[in-house]
Amino acid sequence: EFVPVFQNEPFSDFSLEEVREQMEAALEDISNYMGEEYPVVINGRIQEPHEMLLSRNPSNSSQIVGRVASATPDQAEEAIDAARRAFKEWSGIEAKYRSEYLELIANEMRDRRFELAAWMVYECGKPWVEADADVAEAIDFCNYYAEQMRFLGEPRHRDVPGEENSYYYRARGVVVVISPWNFPLAILTGMTVAALVSGNTVIMKPAEQSSVIAAKLMEIFSNAGIPSGVVNYLPGNGEDIGPVLVNSPDVDMVTFTGSRPVGLEINRSASDTDQRQHSVRKIIAEMGGKNAIIVDADADLDEAVQGVVQSAFSYAGQKCSACSRVIVMEDVYDQFLERLVEAAGSLVVGAAEHPATTVGPVIDKAALDRINEYIELAYEEGDVVLATDVSELEGEGYYVGPHIIENVASESRLAQEEIFGPVLVVFKVQKLNEAFEIANNTDYALTGGMYSRSPKNLQQARLKMICGNLYLNRGITGALVDRQPFGGFRMSGIGTKAGGPDYLHQFLIPINVTENT
Ligand code: NAD
Ligand code: ALA
Repeated sequence: EFVPVFQNEPFSDFSLEEVREQMEAALEDISNYMGEEYPVVINGRIQEPHEMLLSRNPSNSSQIVGRVASATPDQAEEAIDAARRAFKEWSGIEAKYRSEYLELIANEMRDRRFELAAWMVYECGKPWVEADADVAEAIDFCNYYAEQMRFLGEPRHRDVPGEENSYYYRARGVVVVISPWNFPLAILTGMTVAALVSGNTVIMKPAEQSSVIAAKLMEIFSNAGIPSGVVNYLPGNGEDIGPVLVNSPDVDMVTFTGSRPVGLEINRSASDTDQRQHSVRKIIAEMGGKNAIIVDADADLDEAVQGVVQSAFSYAGQKCSACSRVIVMEDVYDQFLERLVEAAGSLVVGAAEHPATTVGPVIDKAALDRINEYIELAYEEGDVVLATDVSELEGEGYYVGPHIIENVASESRLAQEEIFGPVLVVFKVQKLNEAFEIANNTDYALTGGMYSRSPKNLQQARLKMICGNLYLNRGITGALVDRQPFGGFRMSGIGTKAGGPDYLHQFLIPINVTENT
């Protein structure tokens, strides 16, 4: 059994003046590097750009954070070829040495943690605390998977007189990593280093909105001495290069985290096999959520309000784990709602660069328009009890403040679709069973939670709530590597939990050898 001695990377304490100063200095320093160019890197070589994508600061959309090359389909083929050629040597390195590379990567991230966090503040509108946690999680993924691979790298023996049996793992081959923008460093790092430490070679296709941060990660891989071709940086438009990557006969595995429509399309098309293919592709697709928290009649309302506010509105609700539905027992409904509206209404909405901001901007114009459409729908389908005014910020960036809606049918689009913004729907129920029914009445199964003082009711939640990560008497975001291995099922994903003991197995093929002696 794998028992890690691993310790989670501590978060930065921004209540300390010297820590705040370090973050301010990083933001200041990085502001001198806005608008630089980031080329495609294949086989360790920089490629001449054809077309550039502009990466904007969501807090101030006129600021260009970087000009990122948009890879062509031909470059996608070249990257696959480079990864294929690098595979033999990389997969032949002993697991313990590949683990050392991950530790070097983690160390450099630790040394550059404020700089990396500052890039996330600018490129993805992540408030300080969230950006810092993203770096810490990326460090954790490196150290945890490094430790686990040392364990998995040792063959298991089951010998009997006259027969020797060994059981060991080999790498799958070429892995395409396709990542979302909302955990721009942590998720990209997690998927990529898991593939690498298990001996696979990688084509890293980051989200368009977070490709500058991905370029920083590529730089860290290169500084750690990862050989050319083992990781290739292929930023670009998912719709153009995604299908080339996903359907190539030379790709053995696709690991995706992102939205449900794209994940399902990748799962469908990558499952196809053609004559040129020599193995059936392995697919991981981690997708969205429509997560609920239940507030029981005897819940500690101070804690429940705080946990719901943090889960629904931190990073403007742009987390797959975010709470988008809260289901409250009738007895405490009015009291809870009043306090919830007051707490959510007092959150500071503004530019992510400012230390006091708790709700930053949303990622881009398309997201802003989509969320505003849901808010318009809210006025038709329910009663809007909190509509935060952000007109003062208009024209600067992509702002939408916290919104809370009640009297919505549990079948309505507002209650069923992932909005991915600071919009929360509240339900009133008379019985706990009704609360569980509403909580489970979606296609998703990612996170969920319950606030209660009753051990019996908490036990009911354990048994009845259908979700991959259940949190009792705390918020439902912020899973820590190893302590809360993270991931969902149903339409929330196929794959085992990231940051957990089964994750690396997905990147490996088990082999058994028997010798008659
Ligand atoms: P997205 O699906 O729009 O994009 C994700 C990635 O897919 C990007 O790199 C994009 O370029 C690429 N892509 C787009 N079209 C493609 C295609 N046809 N073929 C191949 N690749 C393609 O998602 P997003 O907006 O970046 O991220 C937000 C979503 O991610 C939300 O739904 C959220 O719930 C989900 N998410 C899930 C988890 C999880 O662990 N379950 C974690 C974080 C985010
Ligand atoms: N792992 C992230 C969280 O738990 C998505 O919030």
